[in-house]
Amino acid sequence: MKSFVPKFVWFDGKFVIDEDAKVSVMTHAIHYGTSVFEGLRGYWNSKNLYIFRLDDHIKRFRNSGKVYSVSLRFTDKEMANAIIQLCKKNNVKESCYIRPFYFVGRYGINLHVTENAPTHAAIVMFPFGDLFNKNGITAGISSWRRIHDVSTPPLAKMGGNYLNSILATQESKRNGYDEAILLDQLGNISEAPGENIFIIRNGKLSTPPSSSSALEGITKDSVVKIAKDLGYDTIEREIPRTEIYFADEVFLTGTAAEITPIISVDGKKVEDGKVGKITRKIQGIYSDVTMGRNKKYSNWLTPVY
Ligand SMILES: Cc1ncc(COP(=O)(O)O)c(C=O)c1O
Repeated sequence: MKSFVPKFVWFDGKFVIDEDAKVSVMTHAIHYGTSVFEGLRGYWNSKNLYIFRLDDHIKRFRNSGKVYSVSLRFTDKEMANAIIQLCKKNNVKESCYIRPFYFVGRYGINLHVTENAPTHAAIVMFPFGDLFNKNGITAGISSWRRIHDVSTPPLAKMGGNYLNSILATQESKRNGYDEAILLDQLGNISEAPGENIFIIRNGKLSTPPSSSSALEGITKDSVVKIAKDLGYDTIEREIPRTEIYFADEVFLTGTAAEITPIISVDGKKVEDGKVGKITRKIQGIYSDVTMGRNKKYSNWLTPVY
């Protein structure tokens, strides 16, 4: 099957072709990283396209900009509608990644960004399958520390924050790992460059809290709820680095990564180096949920057609 090539993007309230969505080289965001973004997935199940947790992504989208007084000049409803309409305009009938973003436009070299600074908003999308091998990846602890709330708040999903993620990713690939795991400023486990992390010990799930510089992940929240319904509670707590070597199971969560098992950390196998039972169970349910096969969580899905 041939993948769709998205014809349209949404730019400042209009559907235009990509080449017509133009900005100035004086765009503040290019110089200073003053952009906000979200990543969503659309899941095609051969009957309909479902957008996963649309309203929650839009809520985080607006909240991120609030931290830096970068204004989103469209209402939540307008953004949600623009995402749905863009899928329709592109006649999307396969699973895709959707990237809404907004950023400070022409604002000179002014660092005093206020709500009145000019901003643009856009949405792009493209076909998307698995980011990682769902049968497990290797990870290494990064020598770079995760950014911290005292300097560049990790809870705001700003473009500039991802410089930290890029450094950690580059290092992990250099060292032959599939993915990095970052520690927070205190040396506890924080998150991966674009994913939250869970460890499982003796049937109990643990994940770092936002105070360990972990993004308030929407997939993480979904997994906590799915796990609870399966009878597994999740504790949000500080996780010292060494505990990851004792874990029975480790997995990442994220819109792009979905549920990705980690089978070794720093060259040490996680348990027997195979995907754990609880991880597999959660992975299966998450896949059913996103494809509209599990009615219990159908309120997380927004049908496009
Ligand atoms: C740094 C970081 N942590 C965690 C996540 C996972 O968040 P979500 O599950 O909402 O995609 C992402 C992806 O958005 C991310 O970029």
